[in-house]
Amino acid sequence: MMNSNIKLKPLITEKEIKQRVAALAEEIGTQFSGNTLMIVGLLNGSFIFLADLVRQLNSYHLHLIVDFMRITSYGSNTVTSGKPTLCQDVSINVKERHVLIVDDILDTGYTLEFVVNYLKALDPFSLSVCVLLDKSERRQIDIRADYVGFTVPDAFIVGYGLDCDGRFREMPDIAVLS
Ligand code: IMP
Ligand code: MG
Repeated sequence: MMNSNIKLKPLITEKEIKQRVAALAEEIGTQFSGNTLMIVGLLNGSFIFLADLVRQLNSYHLHLIVDFMRITSYGSNTVTSGKPTLCQDVSINVKERHVLIVDDILDTGYTLEFVVNYLKALDPFSLSVCVLLDKSERRQIDIRADYVGFTVPDAFIVGYGLDCDGRFREMPDIAVLS
């Protein structure tokens, strides 16, 4: 069933992800303690990370609201078009809320720049960004995330929500595709 010319090289284990997600939840949970925090996940890549992150945040004194946006900038290949477009908007009010954007990976930065500008215009009380992975070498735009799980090399990464043409999202660990 699997394509024999596709190779997966392990990069981050399930255990390492779990520990790091717990640490990120502690940072975020402490920062927003006593407040309402609106989490905006970027579909599809963030869904597993977000699901684990919010369950870790349950231990902190926060009122969480979860919503999603869908942005497209990739076709069915691995090269960014650099022109993100909005496919699905947030469905609840952003105005005067603490908003945390959650994404799987920060690569060129075009997607995040688009989302940050879009949400900023809706007048949130604060706007911050959490990404599981940061492929910092690839950045085209001067943008950084407030909370970063792991910095990763310039390679195509799959697993734990990240896909290649729709595949590998369900892998519990993270690997480099070659
Ligand atoms: P950016 O706009 O170039 O920063 O791209 C960010 C989006 O591209 C992420 O939300 C991912 O969905 C996708 N992406 C970037 N690099 C990878 C990768 O190595 N594997 C899987 N998806 C990726
Ligand atoms: Mg994505």
